[in-house]
Amino acid sequence: MTGFRPVCPIAEVAVGTSRRVVVDGVPIAVVNTDEGVFAIEDRCSHADVALSEGDVDGCTIECWLHGSAFDLRTGVPLSLPATVPVTVYPARVVGDGMTAVVEIDPTPTTVPAAAGRQIEES
Ligand code: FES
Repeated sequence: MTGFRPVCPIAEVAVGTSRRVVVDGVPIAVVNTDEGVFAIEDRCSHADVALSEGDVDGCTIECWLHGSAFDLRTGVPLSLPATVPVTVYPARVVGDGMTAVVEIDPTPTTVPAAAGRQIEES
């Protein structure tokens, strides 16, 4: 199945927070920010921990284990120790008020090998 599909009510993801959903068996973090809703692979590229349990700051989410921050628009890590991007997915909010729903297209917008820059270890 392709295309957008509903994953959760937006009311369940407060601004500045994240929630894990699973689409086609793939864990994805739905992140609600002042700049919109984003969907990002819910697995840090440094180790196998959930990014959805990290802190949201603007358009970034910080891995709770070692502190790498990932850009929610591109999946690119902005700080060490992670050096490899995570996958991001198209996300949108459909509807109004309490009935609005987050939809995700599980077709990746970026994949780690095709994403922009990677930070370099020194
Ligand atoms: S597990 Fe995420 S930065 Fe190490």
